[in-house]
Amino acid sequence: MNNFMNISELIFKLGGTGSVSKLLNTNPSTVSNWKKNNKIPKSYMNELDILLKERNLITFTENEDDKSITPIRKNSKFSILVIISGGVSCYKILELIRLYYKNDFDIEVVLTKSAQKFITPLIVTSLINKKCFTELFSSEENENMNHINLARNKNLILIAPCTANFIAKMTHGIADDLALNIILASNSKIFIAPSMNPYMWENKATQDNLETLKKRGVVLINPNSGLMACGENGTGRLPEINEIFSFTTNYLLKKDVKKCIGFQSQLKILITAGPTQEKIDPIRYVSNNSSGKQGYALAEEFLKLGAHVTLISGPTNINKPNVNKFIEVLSAEEMLSQVENNIDCDIFISSAAVCDWKLIPYTLKNKKLSNNDKLKKNKDIFFKLETNPDIIKSVSKNKKRPRLVIGFAAETKNLIQNAKKKLKEKQLDMIIANLIEKENAIFGEEFNKIFIIDKQCNIQESEKLTKKEIANLIISKTLKLHEETYAKNYNRKSISI
Ligand SMILES: Cc1cc2nc3c(=O)[nH]c(=O)nc-3n(C[C@H](O)[C@H](O)[C@H](O)COP(=O)(O)O)c2cc1C
Repeated sequence: MNNFMNISELIFKLGGTGSVSKLLNTNPSTVSNWKKNNKIPKSYMNELDILLKERNLITFTENEDDKSITPIRKNSKFSILVIISGGVSCYKILELIRLYYKNDFDIEVVLTKSAQKFITPLIVTSLINKKCFTELFSSEENENMNHINLARNKNLILIAPCTANFIAKMTHGIADDLALNIILASNSKIFIAPSMNPYMWENKATQDNLETLKKRGVVLINPNSGLMACGENGTGRLPEINEIFSFTTNYLLKKDVKKCIGFQSQLKILITAGPTQEKIDPIRYVSNNSSGKQGYALAEEFLKLGAHVTLISGPTNINKPNVNKFIEVLSAEEMLSQVENNIDCDIFISSAAVCDWKLIPYTLKNKKLSNNDKLKKNKDIFFKLETNPDIIKSVSKNKKRPRLVIGFAAETKNLIQNAKKKLKEKQLDMIIANLIEKENAIFGEEFNKIFIIDKQCNIQESEKLTKKEIANLIISKTLKLHEETYAKNYNRKSISI
């Protein structure tokens, strides 16, 4: 049994705890417990189902495909180790680790002895719900090899703030504490974000050490200039936390995009966005409210990650993104023809709101009128609905089908059922469902809330996020699906090279 809303949302939609307890003849505290546990006893399901149906809200469904909805854990496959060394900007890194944690990165943290003069392991643990490591020598079982265990299987190791002392010790392969041992034993990509007094930064010793580290492949996140905590002006300030966050996470996602296609070429993405416009006569048309923002955000974010992006867009009022290929179209037929011309891609994402029909004017004597001349007011005319081509279905069934075909479903009710039906009927690999309602207007808005449903009918729910954040979430799921589906192909490719 599956419900697409969480229980709190459902109770809210039915008028709140008090109202639901009255409707079901039960105690308010019982209803509060359902909310707390996000679970409703089976005995109440049918009654609730009826209440929801009566109110034209989304209903529970008995369906063997149904699975419970889980929150989207977008970046859990990326594991990051953050080493905090003893600089005055240590406290800022607490915000960085909170951001990694909030965004589902698998994160571990090590503090040097000096760092513990500025912040405590307890603060770190309370932020990431995990032990914070500090000791090289530990009497605890399973922890005496931390310097090796923590060095393994990390997608990225970040030292931030990285002190002048840590830079010098790293350069010379010194290993006299846990953090330095990890660095020496690691096979992961290392990033450093130095932060120190401007004179320490400019000192030839520091600069020579940095050159050596860069030659060894360590990635330097350069410090900013400005007023320092010590009161001096110059270079040595820790970059803004969101800059460090984007720099490191973009590296991980970009690497993922490359891995997605193996070693051979750039990942090619074809995206449709915006509404279509169906001509009635030279000055009138039928269209819809789609702004194109979500599709454009997807195109821009894929591009940032180094993919080759073709965007086919219906008429919108937003700025053209600087993609590899931008094609403007008006009607569904034009969109289909351009999609077919560009079908040679790895992933097709259909985010356009394609009009299902076009209106064909007829005389009362059933004579079709040309749409090249303006229709006159005084003429007796009526319109027949002509069905437009189903673009995503035709891509999905095309001989040149891209590896992944991903669709969108915007519905006003029965969201999950309708989205699943579309997923199956059109043989998609994944569908992004969003409910159009007062609280989630979507069209033209900056925010969106989505459900991602895969072929196995696993349903994942996002929070309400900006369309850019939603784009990154979809990209992350898409790349993961691509990796899972084509993992065998990668292996074959790597062997043949
Ligand atoms: C109040 C204070 C602030 C400090 N801030 C910095 C700093 O921002 N950057 C730096 O490189 N060293 C700074 N130091 C010096 C380091 O703490 C010192 O070099 C220490 O040995 C670094 O140890 P670690 O690299 O093992 O963490 C500071 C020292 C003190 C007392």
